[in-house]
Amino acid sequence: MKKPLIVVNFKTYAESTGEKAVSMARYCEEVSHAHGVSIVAVPQIPDIYRVACSVKIPVYAQHIDGVGAGSFTGHVTADCILAAGACGTLINHSERRILLSDIDSAVRAAKKAGLTTIVCTNNIAVTSAAATLSPDFVAIEPPELIGSGIPVSKADPDIVRGAVAAVKKINPEVEVLCGAGISKGEDVAAALELGTSGVLLASGVIKAKDPRAALLDLVGKI
Ligand code: G3P
Repeated sequence: MKKPLIVVNFKTYAESTGEKAVSMARYCEEVSHAHGVSIVAVPQIPDIYRVACSVKIPVYAQHIDGVGAGSFTGHVTADCILAAGACGTLINHSERRILLSDIDSAVRAAKKAGLTTIVCTNNIAVTSAAATLSPDFVAIEPPELIGSGIPVSKADPDIVRGAVAAVKKINPEVEVLCGAGISKGEDVAAALELGTSGVLLASGVIKAKDPRAALLDLVGKI
């Protein structure tokens, strides 16, 4: 996938659930193709199949569990989301935190299935721990800025710089994204200047009056 990466988390917002998840993913696809920027759609798990059948951009899950096929109930397996049409997954989002040992199992299960992995982290220490598990990406997101409209890349550039430096020391193959409060092209540009490979965002697009226009603004300074 071409860098930088814009990962749009649909969360459980009503504006991006069910058939609206398909419309939102279509906006992402249109802007991605028109501007040659990689945009990933991350709908709720039951919406993955309908979204993946409707668009040609990458579709990721919001979570998986590190269990395989067998006697497990209420879990989400890597193989199941792959079969539904996803090609990657978030793991340990701030709103869906799991134990470090479970992050490890989830990363292993995802890798075995050939899925791209983004492990979300809340500070530099957790970012360092996540990097030792060798996911494809870690995404640093200070929880207090999530949904705030205050972009991490401007409000707390040191946490982003610190995460990039820590990951580089531990495993330079792991790439860093940042998220929380990102909504404008200038926030994305600031994130890239800090050494990230892209951004993870939600409300700036999903809750925008005109999500298509919000996406166009986001890619405008790349
Ligand atoms: O997963 C993205 C996220 O937690 C940031 O949310 O609404 O601040 O872009 P938001």
